[in-house]
Amino acid sequence: MIRKYKESDYEALKEIWQTLGWPISTSDTKEEIQKLVEKNPEISLVYEIEGKVIGGVFGGYDGRRGLVHKLCITPKHQGKGYGKALMMALELIMKELGVVKMSFWVKKDNLNVVEILRKIRV
Ligand SMILES: CC(C)(COP(=O)(O)OP(=O)(O)OC[C@H]1O[C@@H](n2cnc3c(N)ncnc32)[C@H](O)[C@@H]1OP(=O)(O)O)[C@@H](O)C(=O)NCCC(=O)NCCS
Repeated sequence: MIRKYKESDYEALKEIWQTLGWPISTSDTKEEIQKLVEKNPEISLVYEIEGKVIGGVFGGYDGRRGLVHKLCITPKHQGKGYGKALMMALELIMKELGVVKMSFWVKKDNLNVVEILRKIRV
């Protein structure tokens, strides 16, 4: 099930980020993520299976450009279509909000994910 992010989902997502080896930077604390969510409540999403959060994504919309932040699926559940489903949901809602262009930043040390992201693009 894909649903909107709630503040109580933070710890589960943080655990996934840490499993992926992502550092928790100053903009990734619960408080900072909450600022992003409050500006973008419709496009802050998690994927939940049997009550457990297994991934998520945060959309950011500044009125012109849609940005994709922290797309992730926990390793155990990768490759089963959940990441693509999350991105499809995000893009659909962003379109409804009026977003006409989306940007995705990839860190230099994670370039191998670009191939997957190309397949995920709806
Ligand atoms: C990127 C990520 C969210 C994708 O989610 P996922 O659930 O594993 O991906 P899906 O199962 O939905 O697969 C989407 C597409 O990529 C393909 N794919 C999945 N894993 C792949 C891999 N390792 N190599 C090549 N293609 C792959 C799938 O076949 C599918 O393509 P298709 O629609 O043509 O069949 C997930 O792999 C992840 O969390 N990665 C680590 C975090 C990360 O790097 N996030 C991006 C930050 S920029």
